[in-house]
Amino acid sequence: MNAVVISQGRVSWEPRPDPVAGPHDLLVRIQAAGINGADLMQRAGHYPPPAGTPADQPGLECSGVVEAVGDQVRSFRPGDRVMALMAGAAQAELAAVHERHAMPVPEAMSAVEAGAFPEVFCTAHDALFTQGGLAMGDRVLVSGAAGGVGVAAVQLAVAAGATVIASARSRDRHPALAGLGATPVTPDQVPATGPYDVVLELVGAPSLATAIEAIAPWGRVVVIGTGAGSHLELDLGLLMRSRATLRASTLRNRSLEEKAVVVRRVEHHVLPLVARRVLRVPVEATYPFSQVQAAYERFAAGAKLGKLVLTAG
Ligand SMILES: NC(=O)c1ccc[n+]([C@@H]2O[C@H](COP(=O)([O-])OP(=O)(O)OC[C@H]3O[C@@H](n4cnc5c(N)ncnc54)[C@H](OP(=O)(O)O)[C@@H]3O)[C@@H](O)[C@H]2O)c1
Repeated sequence: MNAVVISQGRVSWEPRPDPVAGPHDLLVRIQAAGINGADLMQRAGHYPPPAGTPADQPGLECSGVVEAVGDQVRSFRPGDRVMALMAGAAQAELAAVHERHAMPVPEAMSAVEAGAFPEVFCTAHDALFTQGGLAMGDRVLVSGAAGGVGVAAVQLAVAAGATVIASARSRDRHPALAGLGATPVTPDQVPATGPYDVVLELVGAPSLATAIEAIAPWGRVVVIGTGAGSHLELDLGLLMRSRATLRASTLRNRSLEEKAVVVRRVEHHVLPLVARRVLRVPVEATYPFSQVQAAYERFAAGAKLGKLVLTAG
C-alpha cells in the first residue's frame, strides 16, 4: 500500500508494508482521512505517537470500507462503511483498526465528512460533556471556535441546548459560526460576553487567562489545545472565588479501553444527530493523498473553517 510518511520535516505519499489486522481488528480500505494539529506536530518531531504506532506515519482519523475482519470481531463485517479513531497511521490506503475504536458511518454522511469526524467530535464531546459536565441552559465559551474541534464543539453545545459564544480572531469566519447557532466574538470581546459555565480552551494560555476571569460560579474550564502557548501566570484566587474547576487532557495517549468508551459515547449520543443532518462536518478543502505536503502547508497557514481532508482516488 501507499501511506503518508514523515521524513526530515516533510510528508510524502510512499509505499509502506500493508498493516496486519489482529483478531480484534478491522482491515479498512481508507477513503478519507482528516488532518489534525497533532499531525503537523508529529511532522516537526514534537509529538511522538504511543508505543505500537509507527512514528513516521501520521493520521488520527479515517473513513473507509471494511475489507476483512479478525476472527474475534463481532461488530462489523466486510463491506461495512466505518470511521475510526486512531493513534496514528490513518493517512494511508489501508489501516488496521481496533473494532472498538470504529463507528458505523450514517447513510447520510459522506466519506469525506466521516474521515474528518472521529478525532474532533470525540475530543469535543469528551471535553464538553464528560469533563465539562455541560448541561442544558449552560453558557459556553469555545475559544478557537473556527477550527476542526471548535466547529464540532459549537454544534454539540448548541444541540444540547446551551448558549454558545464562539471566539474566533478573524471576523471572516463569524458568519459561518453564527450559522452553526453560536454568537461569534473576537477574543477581545470574551470578557464582556461572560460569565461562562463551561469554557473549552482550544487556543492556549493567552486566551485561557481571559476566560478564567469570566468564569461563572461553579464553572468548568477544559484545556484541550495549547498552540498559542502553554505557560501562564494564574491567580488561583479567581478559581477559588468562583468555585471553578480547571482541567486538561489529551485523547491520543489514553488506553484502548478509555478511548473505546469515548467512541461509544459519541456513537450513542452524537451519531443519531449526524444521521438526521443536525450535525455536520464543515470541510474547508480536500486534497488527494498524493498532495499531502500541500495539504499540510495549507493547514499550517490557518484561517480555515473546520477541516482539511485527504482523499483516496
Ligand atoms: N487534547 C487533545 O486530545 C486534542 C485533540 C484534538 C486537538 N487538540 C488541539 O486542540 C487545538 C484545536 O484543534 P483543531 O483541530 O481545532 O485545530 P485547528 O483546526 O488548527 O484550529 C485551531 C483554531 O485556533 C485558532 N487560533 C490559533 N492560534 C490562535 C491565537 N493565537 N489566537 C486566536 N485563535 C487562534 C485558529 O484560528 P486561525 O484560523 O485564525 O489561525 C483556529 O481556528 C489544537 O491545538 C490541537 O492540537 C487537542
